[in-house]
Amino acid sequence: MQLADFWPGRILLSAVELDIFQALAESATAGEIAAQRQVSERGITRLLNALAALEILDKAPAGDSGEATYKVTAALRPYLLAGPQNVLASLKHRAVLWRSWSQLTEVVRTGQPAVDPYENDERPDEDVRSFIGAMAVGARAHAPLAIAALDLTGVRTVLDIGGGPGVYAAEFCKASREIRATLLDFPRVCEIARENLAATPYAKRVGFVTGEARTVDHEAVLAASGGQGFDLVFSSSLIHSMSPEQVVMLLKRKVAWCAPEGQVVVKDFFMQENRIEPAMGAVFAINMLVNTPGGGTYTWTEGEHWLRAACEAQGRSAAAVERIELEGGRSGMLCLRLAGVA
Ligand SMILES: C[S@@+](CC[C@H](N)C(=O)[O-])C[C@H]1O[C@@H](n2cnc3c(N)ncnc32)[C@H](O)[C@@H]1O
Repeated sequence: MQLADFWPGRILLSAVELDIFQALAESATAGEIAAQRQVSERGITRLLNALAALEILDKAPAGDSGEATYKVTAALRPYLLAGPQNVLASLKHRAVLWRSWSQLTEVVRTGQPAVDPYENDERPDEDVRSFIGAMAVGARAHAPLAIAALDLTGVRTVLDIGGGPGVYAAEFCKASREIRATLLDFPRVCEIARENLAATPYAKRVGFVTGEARTVDHEAVLAASGGQGFDLVFSSSLIHSMSPEQVVMLLKRKVAWCAPEGQVVVKDFFMQENRIEPAMGAVFAINMLVNTPGGGTYTWTEGEHWLRAACEAQGRSAAAVERIELEGGRSGMLCLRLAGVA
Protein backbone atom coordinates (compact mmCIF):
# COMPACT_ATOMS: atom_id res chain seq x y z
CA MET A 1 0.00 0.00 0.00
CA GLN A 2 2.91 2.33 0.69
CA LEU A 3 4.09 1.89 -2.90
CA ALA A 4 0.64 2.96 -4.14
CA ASP A 5 0.47 6.06 -1.93
CA PHE A 6 0.62 8.93 -4.40
CA TRP A 7 -1.63 11.31 -2.41
CA PRO A 8 1.11 13.25 -0.55
CA GLY A 9 3.08 13.68 -3.78
CA ARG A 10 0.05 14.92 -5.67
CA ILE A 11 -0.76 17.41 -2.89
CA LEU A 12 2.76 18.82 -3.11
CA LEU A 13 2.66 19.03 -6.93
CA SER A 14 -0.67 20.90 -6.91
CA ALA A 15 0.73 23.36 -4.39
CA VAL A 16 3.66 23.89 -6.79
CA GLU A 17 1.36 24.26 -9.83
CA LEU A 18 -0.73 26.83 -7.94
CA ASP A 19 2.50 28.60 -6.99
CA ILE A 20 1.53 29.17 -3.36
CA PHE A 21 4.81 28.72 -1.52
CA GLN A 22 6.30 32.18 -2.09
CA ALA A 23 3.03 33.65 -0.80
CA LEU A 24 3.56 31.55 2.32
CA ALA A 25 7.07 32.87 3.03
CA GLU A 26 5.28 34.92 5.71
CA SER A 27 2.18 33.82 7.63
CA ALA A 28 -1.03 34.07 5.61
CA THR A 29 -4.62 32.91 6.01
CA ALA A 30 -6.46 30.59 3.61
CA GLY A 31 -8.65 33.54 2.57
CA GLU A 32 -5.61 35.65 1.70
CA ILE A 33 -4.05 32.87 -0.39
CA ALA A 34 -7.38 32.20 -2.11
CA ALA A 35 -7.67 35.86 -3.09
CA GLN A 36 -4.05 36.16 -4.16
CA ARG A 37 -3.95 32.98 -6.26
CA GLN A 38 -7.55 33.29 -7.49
CA VAL A 39 -8.62 29.86 -6.27
CA SER A 40 -11.58 28.61 -4.24
CA GLU A 41 -11.43 29.09 -0.48
CA ARG A 42 -12.90 25.61 0.04
CA GLY A 43 -10.16 24.04 -2.09
CA ILE A 44 -7.22 26.01 -0.72
CA THR A 45 -8.24 25.51 2.92
CA ARG A 46 -8.13 21.75 2.49
CA LEU A 47 -4.89 21.89 0.53
CA LEU A 48 -3.22 24.07 3.19
CA ASN A 49 -4.40 21.79 5.99
CA ALA A 50 -3.09 18.73 4.15
CA LEU A 51 0.26 20.49 3.54
CA ALA A 52 0.42 21.31 7.27
CA ALA A 53 -0.42 17.70 8.16
CA LEU A 54 2.44 16.60 5.87
CA GLU A 55 4.77 19.03 7.73
CA ILE A 56 5.39 21.13 4.63
CA LEU A 57 3.66 24.11 6.27
CA ASP A 58 3.40 25.25 9.89
CA LYS A 59 -0.15 26.08 10.94
CA ALA A 60 -0.79 28.60 13.72
CA PRO A 61 -4.27 28.23 15.25
CA ALA A 62 -6.83 31.01 14.98
CA GLY A 63 -6.48 33.54 17.82
CA ASP A 64 -9.43 35.33 19.46
CA SER A 65 -9.68 37.84 16.69
CA GLY A 66 -8.55 36.07 13.55
CA GLU A 67 -8.23 33.01 11.36
CA ALA A 68 -5.55 30.29 11.35
CA THR A 69 -2.39 31.18 9.44
CA TYR A 70 0.06 29.05 7.45
CA LYS A 71 3.76 29.43 6.64
CA VAL A 72 6.44 27.27 4.96
CA THR A 73 8.35 25.29 7.63
CA ALA A 74 11.87 26.44 8.48
CA ALA A 75 13.35 23.14 7.26
CA LEU A 76 11.83 23.44 3.78
CA ARG A 77 12.31 27.18 3.19
CA PRO A 78 15.61 26.76 1.26
CA TYR A 79 13.93 24.33 -1.17
CA LEU A 80 10.47 25.86 -1.63
CA LEU A 81 11.22 29.60 -1.60
CA ALA A 82 13.23 31.58 -4.17
CA GLY A 83 16.98 31.17 -3.62
CA PRO A 84 20.02 29.23 -4.82
CA GLN A 85 18.97 25.87 -3.32
CA ASN A 86 15.35 25.86 -4.44
CA VAL A 87 14.04 22.77 -6.24
CA LEU A 88 10.85 24.36 -7.61
CA ALA A 89 11.81 23.73 -11.26
CA SER A 90 12.28 20.01 -10.50
CA LEU A 91 8.90 19.90 -8.80
CA LYS A 92 7.24 21.73 -11.71
CA HIS A 93 8.85 19.25 -14.10
CA ARG A 94 7.46 16.38 -12.00
CA ALA A 95 4.02 17.96 -12.32
CA VAL A 96 4.45 18.01 -16.12
CA LEU A 97 5.55 14.35 -16.07
CA TRP A 98 2.45 13.47 -14.07
CA ARG A 99 0.41 13.98 -17.26
CA SER A 100 2.31 11.36 -19.25
CA TRP A 101 2.81 8.97 -16.31
CA SER A 102 -0.94 8.95 -15.62
CA GLN A 103 -1.33 7.28 -19.02
CA LEU A 104 1.17 4.51 -18.26
CA THR A 105 -1.34 1.66 -18.44
CA GLU A 106 -2.41 2.67 -21.95
CA VAL A 107 1.21 3.28 -22.96
CA VAL A 108 2.12 -0.26 -21.90
CA ARG A 109 -0.82 -1.56 -23.95
CA THR A 110 0.17 0.29 -27.11
CA GLY A 111 3.93 0.75 -26.71
CA GLN A 112 3.43 4.34 -27.90
CA PRO A 113 4.41 7.40 -25.81
CA ALA A 114 1.76 9.58 -24.21
CA VAL A 115 3.21 12.84 -25.57
CA ASP A 116 4.71 14.19 -28.80
CA PRO A 117 8.43 13.51 -29.19
CA TYR A 118 10.59 16.12 -27.48
CA GLU A 119 12.43 16.73 -30.71
CA ASN A 120 9.40 18.41 -32.27
CA ASP A 121 10.38 21.27 -29.97
CA GLU A 122 6.73 22.30 -29.93
CA ARG A 123 6.16 22.06 -26.19
CA PRO A 124 4.88 25.08 -24.31
CA ASP A 125 7.68 27.44 -23.26
CA GLU A 126 6.72 26.93 -19.63
CA ASP A 127 7.27 23.15 -19.89
CA VAL A 128 10.65 23.61 -21.62
CA ARG A 129 11.73 26.03 -18.88
CA SER A 130 10.67 23.72 -16.05
CA PHE A 131 12.39 20.76 -17.78
CA ILE A 132 15.65 22.66 -18.27
CA GLY A 133 15.36 24.16 -14.77
CA ALA A 134 14.98 20.63 -13.37
CA MET A 135 18.05 19.53 -15.33
CA ALA A 136 20.01 22.41 -13.79
CA VAL A 137 19.06 21.28 -10.26
CA GLY A 138 20.35 17.76 -11.00
CA ALA A 139 23.42 18.89 -12.93
CA ARG A 140 24.59 21.21 -10.15
CA ALA A 141 24.95 18.11 -7.97
CA HIS A 142 26.31 15.71 -10.61
CA ALA A 143 28.49 17.76 -12.97
CA PRO A 144 31.37 18.40 -10.52
CA LEU A 145 31.64 14.67 -9.71
CA ALA A 146 31.51 13.59 -13.33
CA ILE A 147 34.02 16.16 -14.58
CA ALA A 148 36.42 15.44 -11.72
CA ALA A 149 36.45 11.80 -12.86
CA LEU A 150 37.64 12.70 -16.40
CA ASP A 151 41.23 13.14 -17.55
CA LEU A 152 41.27 16.70 -18.91
CA THR A 153 45.01 16.78 -19.61
CA GLY A 154 45.53 18.71 -22.85
CA VAL A 155 41.79 19.31 -23.35
CA ARG A 156 41.14 22.77 -24.81
CA THR A 157 37.89 22.30 -26.72
CA VAL A 158 34.77 20.53 -25.47
CA LEU A 159 31.53 19.86 -27.33
CA ASP A 160 28.59 19.25 -24.98
CA ILE A 161 25.75 17.70 -26.98
CA GLY A 162 22.31 18.14 -25.38
CA GLY A 163 23.99 20.47 -22.92
CA GLY A 164 20.65 21.79 -21.61
CA PRO A 165 21.01 24.50 -18.94
CA GLY A 166 24.79 24.90 -19.50
CA VAL A 167 25.84 23.63 -16.07
CA TYR A 168 28.26 21.05 -17.51
CA ALA A 169 29.70 23.59 -19.98
CA ALA A 170 30.36 25.98 -17.08
CA GLU A 171 31.86 23.18 -14.99
CA PHE A 172 34.27 22.21 -17.80
CA CYS A 173 35.38 25.87 -18.01
CA LYS A 174 35.77 25.96 -14.24
CA ALA A 175 37.92 22.80 -14.31
CA SER A 176 40.52 24.37 -16.61
CA ARG A 177 41.24 27.90 -17.78
CA GLU A 178 42.34 26.43 -21.13
CA ILE A 179 38.91 25.01 -21.98
CA ARG A 180 36.38 26.57 -24.34
CA ALA A 181 33.07 24.76 -24.57
CA THR A 182 30.43 24.56 -27.31
CA LEU A 183 26.90 23.67 -26.31
CA LEU A 184 24.69 21.98 -28.91
CA ASP A 185 20.96 21.87 -28.20
CA PHE A 186 17.59 23.03 -29.55
CA PRO A 187 17.22 26.81 -30.06
CA ARG A 188 14.92 27.50 -27.11
CA VAL A 189 17.17 25.49 -24.79
CA CYS A 190 20.28 27.36 -25.97
CA GLU A 191 18.49 30.60 -25.16
CA ILE A 192 17.96 29.45 -21.56
CA ALA A 193 21.57 28.25 -21.30
CA ARG A 194 22.79 31.61 -22.57
CA GLU A 195 20.78 33.38 -19.84
CA ASN A 196 22.13 31.00 -17.18
CA LEU A 197 25.74 31.36 -18.33
CA ALA A 198 25.48 35.15 -18.42
CA ALA A 199 25.33 34.97 -14.62
CA THR A 200 28.65 33.04 -14.43
CA PRO A 201 32.28 34.01 -15.15
CA TYR A 202 32.29 31.58 -18.13
CA ALA A 203 29.88 33.23 -20.59
CA LYS A 204 32.69 34.30 -22.94
CA ARG A 205 34.18 30.80 -23.08
CA VAL A 206 30.97 29.01 -24.12
CA GLY A 207 29.68 29.06 -27.70
CA PHE A 208 26.46 27.62 -29.11
CA VAL A 209 25.32 25.56 -32.07
CA THR A 210 21.56 25.16 -32.33
CA GLY A 211 19.88 22.15 -33.86
CA GLU A 212 19.10 18.48 -33.57
CA ALA A 213 22.27 16.50 -32.92
CA ARG A 214 21.74 13.81 -35.54
CA THR A 215 20.78 16.15 -38.39
CA VAL A 216 22.51 19.47 -37.61
CA ASP A 217 25.00 20.57 -40.28
CA HIS A 218 28.17 18.55 -39.70
CA GLU A 219 30.52 21.29 -40.91
CA ALA A 220 28.88 23.96 -38.73
CA VAL A 221 29.64 21.88 -35.63
CA LEU A 222 33.17 21.07 -36.77
CA ALA A 223 33.80 24.76 -37.47
CA ALA A 224 33.01 25.54 -33.81
CA SER A 225 36.06 23.41 -32.85
CA GLY A 226 38.31 25.50 -35.08
CA GLY A 227 38.06 22.83 -37.79
CA GLN A 228 40.22 20.06 -36.28
CA GLY A 229 37.57 18.39 -34.13
CA PHE A 230 37.00 18.77 -30.39
CA ASP A 231 39.40 17.35 -27.81
CA LEU A 232 36.45 16.02 -25.85
CA VAL A 233 32.95 15.30 -27.17
CA PHE A 234 30.55 14.90 -24.26
CA SER A 235 26.90 14.15 -23.63
CA SER A 236 25.04 13.63 -20.38
CA SER A 237 21.58 12.11 -20.06
CA LEU A 238 21.02 12.23 -23.80
CA ILE A 239 21.19 8.67 -25.12
CA HIS A 240 18.36 7.47 -22.88
CA SER A 241 15.90 9.58 -24.90
CA MET A 242 16.93 7.79 -28.12
CA SER A 243 16.26 4.38 -29.68
CA PRO A 244 19.29 2.09 -30.18
CA GLU A 245 19.41 3.07 -33.88
CA GLN A 246 19.37 6.76 -32.97
CA VAL A 247 22.10 6.23 -30.35
CA VAL A 248 24.33 4.64 -32.99
CA MET A 249 23.71 7.59 -35.34
CA LEU A 250 24.55 10.03 -32.55
CA LEU A 251 27.72 8.18 -31.57
CA LYS A 252 28.93 8.16 -35.18
CA ARG A 253 28.58 11.93 -35.22
CA LYS A 254 30.32 12.24 -31.86
CA VAL A 255 33.28 10.30 -33.27
CA ALA A 256 33.24 12.43 -36.45
CA TRP A 257 33.40 15.63 -34.34
CA CYS A 258 36.29 14.33 -32.22
CA ALA A 259 39.94 15.30 -32.81
CA PRO A 260 42.67 12.65 -33.27
CA GLU A 261 43.55 11.28 -29.81
CA GLY A 262 40.46 13.04 -28.45
CA GLN A 263 37.86 11.53 -26.14
CA VAL A 264 34.21 10.65 -26.71
CA VAL A 265 32.37 10.56 -23.37
CA VAL A 266 28.84 9.26 -22.82
CA LYS A 267 27.26 9.82 -19.41
CA ASP A 268 23.96 8.16 -18.55
CA PHE A 269 22.42 5.36 -16.54
CA PHE A 270 24.35 2.25 -17.53
CA MET A 271 22.57 -0.94 -16.60
CA GLN A 272 23.93 -4.29 -15.52
CA GLU A 273 23.08 -7.22 -17.81
CA ASN A 274 20.00 -8.06 -15.69
CA ARG A 275 18.55 -4.61 -16.61
CA ILE A 276 17.25 -4.10 -13.06
CA GLU A 277 20.41 -2.62 -11.54
CA PRO A 278 20.77 0.21 -10.79
CA ALA A 279 17.10 0.12 -9.71
CA MET A 280 16.61 3.80 -10.55
CA GLY A 281 17.68 3.06 -14.13
CA ALA A 282 14.95 0.42 -14.48
CA VAL A 283 12.33 2.84 -13.12
CA PHE A 284 13.68 5.65 -15.32
CA ALA A 285 13.17 3.42 -18.39
CA ILE A 286 9.43 3.82 -17.70
CA ASN A 287 9.87 7.60 -17.91
CA MET A 288 11.33 7.11 -21.38
CA LEU A 289 8.53 4.68 -22.30
CA VAL A 290 5.80 7.24 -21.53
CA ASN A 291 7.70 10.23 -22.96
CA THR A 292 9.62 8.99 -26.02
CA PRO A 293 8.92 6.68 -28.95
CA GLY A 294 12.18 4.73 -28.63
CA GLY A 295 14.16 5.72 -25.53
CA GLY A 296 15.26 3.51 -22.67
CA THR A 297 18.17 2.73 -20.39
CA TYR A 298 20.99 0.72 -21.92
CA THR A 299 23.59 -1.68 -20.55
CA TRP A 300 27.32 -1.00 -20.22
CA THR A 301 27.87 -3.74 -22.81
CA GLU A 302 25.49 -2.14 -25.32
CA GLY A 303 27.04 1.29 -24.83
CA GLU A 304 30.57 -0.02 -25.30
CA HIS A 305 29.59 -2.08 -28.33
CA TRP A 306 27.86 0.91 -29.98
CA LEU A 307 30.82 3.19 -29.27
CA ARG A 308 33.27 0.77 -30.85
CA ALA A 309 30.93 0.23 -33.81
CA ALA A 310 30.63 4.02 -34.30
CA CYS A 311 34.41 4.28 -34.34
CA GLU A 312 34.75 1.53 -36.90
CA ALA A 313 32.01 3.02 -39.08
CA GLN A 314 33.95 6.30 -39.20
CA GLY A 315 37.19 4.53 -40.08
CA ARG A 316 38.77 5.57 -36.76
CA SER A 317 40.28 3.28 -34.15
CA ALA A 318 39.87 3.31 -30.40
CA ALA A 319 42.97 3.39 -28.23
CA ALA A 320 40.93 2.49 -25.14
CA VAL A 321 37.42 2.38 -23.70
CA GLU A 322 37.00 3.04 -19.98
CA ARG A 323 33.95 2.47 -17.77
CA ILE A 324 33.65 5.02 -14.97
CA GLU A 325 31.04 4.37 -12.27
CA LEU A 326 29.57 7.42 -10.52
CA GLU A 327 27.45 7.71 -7.34
CA GLY A 328 28.11 4.09 -6.38
CA GLY A 329 26.97 2.79 -9.79
CA ARG A 330 23.73 4.80 -9.98
CA SER A 331 25.08 6.45 -13.13
CA GLY A 332 28.21 6.14 -15.18
CA MET A 333 30.37 7.27 -18.06
CA LEU A 334 31.83 5.46 -21.01
CA CYS A 335 35.00 7.15 -22.17
CA LEU A 336 36.47 6.21 -25.52
CA ARG A 337 39.88 7.58 -26.40
CA LEU A 338 40.50 7.72 -30.12
CA ALA A 339 43.81 6.71 -31.61
CA GLY A 340 45.78 9.29 -33.56
CA VAL A 341 45.50 9.47 -37.33
CA ALA A 342 48.23 7.34 -38.98
C1 LIG B 1 17.87 15.19 -20.01
S1 LIG B 1 18.51 16.68 -20.61
C2 LIG B 1 20.17 16.65 -20.03
C3 LIG B 1 20.79 18.01 -19.92
C4 LIG B 1 22.26 17.98 -19.46
N1 LIG B 1 23.11 17.33 -20.42
C5 LIG B 1 22.38 17.30 -18.12
O1 LIG B 1 22.87 16.18 -18.04
O2 LIG B 1 21.95 17.89 -17.13
C6 LIG B 1 18.69 16.32 -22.33
C7 LIG B 1 19.08 17.53 -23.13
O3 LIG B 1 19.34 17.10 -24.46
C8 LIG B 1 18.64 17.89 -25.37
N2 LIG B 1 18.32 17.02 -26.51
C9 LIG B 1 17.48 15.95 -26.51
N3 LIG B 1 17.49 15.36 -27.73
C10 LIG B 1 18.33 16.09 -28.49
C11 LIG B 1 18.74 15.99 -29.83
N4 LIG B 1 18.28 15.02 -30.60
N5 LIG B 1 19.59 16.93 -30.31
C12 LIG B 1 20.07 17.93 -29.50
N6 LIG B 1 19.73 18.05 -28.21
C13 LIG B 1 18.86 17.15 -27.72
C14 LIG B 1 17.42 18.40 -24.62
O4 LIG B 1 16.94 19.60 -25.18
C15 LIG B 1 17.98 18.58 -23.23
O5 LIG B 1 18.55 19.84 -23.08
